[in-house]
Amino acid sequence: AAAPHFSSDPSLSSCRSESARLADPPPPSRPDPNVYPPPAVLQILSARAQLPVQQFEEEIMATVEQNPVVIIRGATGCGKTTQVPQYILDRFIKGGRASDCNIVVTQPRRISAVSVAERVAYERGEDLGKSCGYSVRFESVLPRPHASVLFCTVGTQSRQQGEPCCRSHHVIVDEIHERDINTDFLLVVLRDVVQAFPDVRIILMSATIDTTMFREYFFNCPIIEVFGRTFPVQDYTVKATRTNHIEKKYF
Ligand SMILES: Nc1ncnc2c1ncn2[C@@H]1O[C@H](COP(=O)(O)OP(=O)(O)OP(=O)(O)O)[C@@H](O)[C@H]1O
Ligand SMILES: [Mg+2]
Repeated sequence: AAAPHFSSDPSLSSCRSESARLADPPPPSRPDPNVYPPPAVLQILSARAQLPVQQFEEEIMATVEQNPVVIIRGATGCGKTTQVPQYILDRFIKGGRASDCNIVVTQPRRISAVSVAERVAYERGEDLGKSCGYSVRFESVLPRPHASVLFCTVGTQSRQQGEPCCRSHHVIVDEIHERDINTDFLLVVLRDVVQAFPDVRIILMSATIDTTMFREYFFNCPIIEVFGRTFPVQDYTVKATRTNHIEKKYF
């Protein structure tokens, strides 16, 4: 009798196709170079466009242009920290004045300086060290010298004795409501800087708290109020509480 042909056995044929699939997996899907902008970039742009602060971009830019000091007060997550520096940078780039633009943004803690710098670099589709970087104690990835945003801690900024304030066209002091000694000291320095260098722009950003005191300290500067988003909240009730095992074991 003739030996059965290998491919005539349907079960073997399915095994072979399975092993072929495992041995030669399909190549990972790569972005199509003919599609521009890539879907990932479109996704980031759409997420940025949905942030509440987006509706205030024009108002923020016009107020910053006309006033040396501006306070931006907004709800958590509305986009102050990640978006405002980018609005300024993009405006200078579009206006062909990118080399005039140096932005420094202070953060109260090193973890926020680093993570926000990483986030902004990601949103711009770049690595750190190009248009965006950070400088915290003992660690820094500095951005290019012009047309860039530098995130740093208030302590790092203060230790440089205001020098970046004079070099930077825009100084953004974030989370001013936290009122630590470094931030207060920086605000005292900036009050002098803004009188000595009228072209410098100071932007103070805070959560939704009473900013009257800051406003009066900075010559009754304008305040821009950015409204936040609300989300539906569902209440859940725990019917029975569990025994506190720690209490039972140790006390
Ligand atoms: N590291 C991140 N990963 C993912 N999404 C992020 C990240 N950082 C920020 N976002 C998104 O960007 C939005 C704006 O964040 P941003 O920090 O600019 O808000 P904010 O107004 O400064 O808030 P806060 O008052 O808490 O500082 C957030 O709501 C979140 O959706
Ligand atoms: Mg913030």
